[in-house]
Amino acid sequence: MCGIVGYVGPRQSQAILLAGLSRLEYRGYDSAGIAVIDADGDLEMRKRSGKLKVLRDDLLAHPMQDGTTGIGHTRWATHGGPTDANAHPHLADDDKLAVIHNGIIENFSELKAELLSEGYTFRSETDTEVSAVLLGREYRASAGDLVAAFRAVAARLEGAFTLLAMHEEHPGLVVGARRNSPLVIGLGEGENFLGSDVAAFVEHTRNALAIGQDQIVAITPSGVEVTDFDGNSVEVEPFEVLWDASAADKGGWSSFMAKEVSEEPEAVANTIRGRVRDGQIVVPELDGLDELFTSITRIIVVACGTAAYAGLVGKYAIEQWARVPVDVELAHEFRYRDPVIGPDTLVVSISQSGETMDTLMAVKYARERGAKTLSICNTQGATIPRESDAIVYTHAGPEVAVASTKAFVAQITALYLFGLHLGRVRGSLPETEAAEHVRELEAIPTKIQQILDREQSRIDQFAHWMADTRSVLFLGRHVGYPIALEGALKLKELAYIHAEGFAAGELKHGPIALIEPGQPVFVIVPSPRESAELHKKVVSNIQEIRARGARVIVIAEEGDAAVLPFADEVLRIPLAGPLFEPLLAVVPLHIFAMGLSTAKGLDVDQPRNLAKSVTVE
Ligand code: F6R
Repeated sequence: MCGIVGYVGPRQSQAILLAGLSRLEYRGYDSAGIAVIDADGDLEMRKRSGKLKVLRDDLLAHPMQDGTTGIGHTRWATHGGPTDANAHPHLADDDKLAVIHNGIIENFSELKAELLSEGYTFRSETDTEVSAVLLGREYRASAGDLVAAFRAVAARLEGAFTLLAMHEEHPGLVVGARRNSPLVIGLGEGENFLGSDVAAFVEHTRNALAIGQDQIVAITPSGVEVTDFDGNSVEVEPFEVLWDASAADKGGWSSFMAKEVSEEPEAVANTIRGRVRDGQIVVPELDGLDELFTSITRIIVVACGTAAYAGLVGKYAIEQWARVPVDVELAHEFRYRDPVIGPDTLVVSISQSGETMDTLMAVKYARERGAKTLSICNTQGATIPRESDAIVYTHAGPEVAVASTKAFVAQITALYLFGLHLGRVRGSLPETEAAEHVRELEAIPTKIQQILDREQSRIDQFAHWMADTRSVLFLGRHVGYPIALEGALKLKELAYIHAEGFAAGELKHGPIALIEPGQPVFVIVPSPRESAELHKKVVSNIQEIRARGARVIVIAEEGDAAVLPFADEVLRIPLAGPLFEPLLAVVPLHIFAMGLSTAKGLDVDQPRNLAKSVTVE
């Protein structure tokens, strides 16, 4: 949430900042702003409420002097509405120092009261401005030492923050600090960058440094210095960004989401790549953990939203293969209920961004309680993997659309790799059976591609016909249940219509009352070959809703004729083993949500009120 970019170097910075912000816009799009130190040594600033385009247009209409040191921000509003005044950057009282911020400063009211009592005034309702004014005061107190002033301010702030600042008396210097909020450094030739994530600077450099918790960084064109909040030098970990800027470009696609759904086959294939040898799973990142994996008595998956639904799918597979109980918990509920965890618990976090604050806090909490932690993450250098004992990266590539799609299938894939590894280590999964599952998994990318090739235009057309629909229900059983939840979430967030997912068996315990003539219901039907008993039950559920007038849209395996008499529409998926169906059944639902959103003329990539990478609790 909130995208941050900083630049120092020989080039004019406005274009670099705006390009960086456009790559970070998925983190928030309520307002945007930039500040630069111009050629005369003056601090120039422009900020506008609305999407980045509003700021761009404003700068085109009323150009601002450029300069080679600059910071930029795209906002997801927390304190104070999305107005011009509340947009970042914020200035200190003398207008010489600019600050941008991601996170929430929890003690901002006390700090503001202190500053008000000293006669300072404020121009916005934000917590960020408090830090800017405080920094201005500390800057004077430290006789113009921006880094020392930053240290003094960081020590006073409570909550989560990434702060960047620059002062017109120090052209060629941008200072940053982070606590529980992301910040990475991009290392260029004679220029350096700061960003909320590598997308901010990947078109200029793929050499990056991940800054640790409670650290301060000062970048100049020729160097980078990182210290802790007490001023001690610290070593930072270099890494090479594995994808290039074109991976995060829309290319010729109508939206990032369209591109990302089309990349679902690749997301699965890339997550498997290099992790299968001679038909068996080999996950090098998990080497040396056998003792842990044999000693655990329980796994708790912590995640939010779509990532949590991936966890729910993973639960079925891991329990079946590794014979260890798996609970899936929403990360924000987990740590507030005194859970029973200890050294025999493995807490597995799932996060595309690796920055979701709720998930990060759950991981930290689990570690404090003595549990071991494994992170399944899609973003290099992110905070959650850095805070975890072990990491399995998904290789879905950058996900820019706010709604998660390709990351979801990659997360399930990574969970399956982990489950198969665990089954082998714990001796609960015979080698021949494991090899069969590996074959199934390896076949998934081709099968997803078949769905995209055969069904996409029909689903799109169908979504257009349903553009006026006000409510859609989704039903599934077993691994189809989390897919029903995912289908409903995508529809809510992209098309802003009421949508709910239910376990099909739960219907008669209440939700069936919602069925009235014409109510659209998607039903995920298990394979009649592989799950004959469940299949029969789901077909009965379909009959029950059909009898009450529901309009039934079925997602069923190719050749399943039993559903035909009761379905208004049938979307076909290729044959797959029962545990592998979710990786296929979700694809039509992603296409449908995207199609309905487009049919309603909405912004598929940037749905209202949302932001990707939710770095506040
Ligand atoms: C829904 C969606 C969200 C995220 C959730 C967790 O389409 O994208 O529900 O899945 O905010 O995000 P990560 O995976 O970054 O922790």
